[in-house]
Amino acid sequence: MAESDLRLRLATLDDAAMLHAWRNDRHTREASRTTDPIPFEQHRAWLEACLADPNRTLWIAESTSGPVGTVRFDQGDQAELSWTVAPTARGQGWGTRMVALALNEVSGTVRAVARGNNVGSCKIAMANGFQVIDDDGEWVTFERIVGEEKTP
Ligand SMILES: CC(C)(COP(=O)(O)OP(=O)(O)OC[C@H]1O[C@@H](n2cnc3c(N)ncnc32)[C@H](O)[C@@H]1OP(=O)(O)O)[C@@H](O)C(=O)NCCC(=O)NCCS
Repeated sequence: MAESDLRLRLATLDDAAMLHAWRNDRHTREASRTTDPIPFEQHRAWLEACLADPNRTLWIAESTSGPVGTVRFDQGDQAELSWTVAPTARGQGWGTRMVALALNEVSGTVRAVARGNNVGSCKIAMANGFQVIDDDGEWVTFERIVGEEKTP
């Protein structure tokens, strides 16, 4: 499917149940810093705070057949991009493509962090021009400079 058949839209509170299901998926939890399942109310409060945070952007990636994943961008001293592909949409190239779309929306020095054994995410980062800047044996930190760096 062409990249134009995939788009990013901003997440809303209506996405709470879907994002909660993706977040509590076993593989998502294994890839996360916090591996315990999260109760729905806690997740909803997190999403509400996310949507109100001016330094955070949360997108839903949608193909013509529906939502396939989510990408989060955190601005600040250390900008970071993170992502999850819907459990039923994995292994079809969506992760690589939705991260490419998100990179079109951001600029500056952006990091991404993945467990070293998360081959899919490490490949997504490398395919999108990130370089490894640290590997502590458990977590790999990637960095990419996107677009024009603002000069002081
Ligand atoms: C990891 C994850 C993001 C991959 O998304 P995806 O859409 O399946 O990835 P893609 O289809 O774009 O695949 C990218 C590459 O990784 C490879 N890959 C994907 N999943 C893989 C897996 N589980 N094991 C080994 N390789 C994998 C693909 O074969 C592809 O390789 P290629 O470029 O050499 O062809 C997705 O499985 C996921 O959301 N997992 C749970 C949550 C998670 O890990 N979040 C990221 C935290 S950093």
